[in-house]
Amino acid sequence: MNHFITLADLPNFNQTLNLAMDFKKDPSKLNTLGKGKTLGLLFFIPSLRTRLSTQKAAQNLGLNTMVMNFSQESWALEFEDGTKMSGLRSEHVREAAAVVSQYCDMIAIRAFASLSNKEKDEAEIVLKSFTKYASVPIINMESATAHPLQAVADAITLNEFKTPHKPKVVLTWAPHPKALPHAVGNSFTKMMENLDADFIIAHPDGYGLNPLITKGVKCINNQEEAMENADFIYTKNWCSYEHYGQILRTDDKWMITPEKMELTNNGKFMHCLPIRRNIVAADEVLDSSNSLVIQQSQNRIYSAQAVLKQLLENG
Ligand code: CP
Repeated sequence: MNHFITLADLPNFNQTLNLAMDFKKDPSKLNTLGKGKTLGLLFFIPSLRTRLSTQKAAQNLGLNTMVMNFSQESWALEFEDGTKMSGLRSEHVREAAAVVSQYCDMIAIRAFASLSNKEKDEAEIVLKSFTKYASVPIINMESATAHPLQAVADAITLNEFKTPHKPKVVLTWAPHPKALPHAVGNSFTKMMENLDADFIIAHPDGYGLNPLITKGVKCINNQEEAMENADFIYTKNWCSYEHYGQILRTDDKWMITPEKMELTNNGKFMHCLPIRRNIVAADEVLDSSNSLVIQQSQNRIYSAQAVLKQLLENG
């Protein structure tokens, strides 16, 4: 693995999952692997979990870290080639990526989605530019279209709470006042290809994810039907893909409530966080013993640790 941009970059998903589970049992078992090396973490948008869990994972492997919040602390970057840089963008990614490569042995990046230009978002210009102009491995800490570190963490959580039978796992859309990207839904859907489960996506009309991602997955517009007898309810908002970036509805009919959780097979509630209480899910759902949201965030450490370990071992 030269870079970690999507789950497809992992040489072996199940081995990565097992590695992450081993790190959870003994986080410091390879605590000198990264000695003398530095991981740079570049944030173009905010983060709580990704920033701290990736730093923690790096520490567990003996790596040093450098963190920069690009949106507030650095020069605004230009990503287009051939532009006359007379505007607000002071530095081109060609120089920035080459410079950071001299200070860091790996660069982890949280990019952004415009949610106004589908083609540009799908081109993943931030990650692709760093991959092109940096001379060290690039790690995706959430981009316009993918959040693979979250998906590996979610697989760990599903594995920890696995049922004796083949589980029913539901990814359900839920409301949100802001337009949010498809990254978590996309990566969760791709991750589920690796697990033995009955997987269903529920979303209102007009909120289907990228059909290339959901190909072969059962998708329905009836949330309550999807939730019946489910073992896991993974909840996430995303904006419309078809009417790219738009919020098509603002009612709370798709909020996760205790009454809806009653339809499940004593189902566990999952969400990547941050979550807006009583908009996405009711307090009672989040505060119930069936909520796994805190465990999911803990597993972000071991997800990142498993990925960093493989990149370090690659040289
Ligand atoms: N789930 C997740 O990526 O959280 P942050 O945005 O806080 O990093």
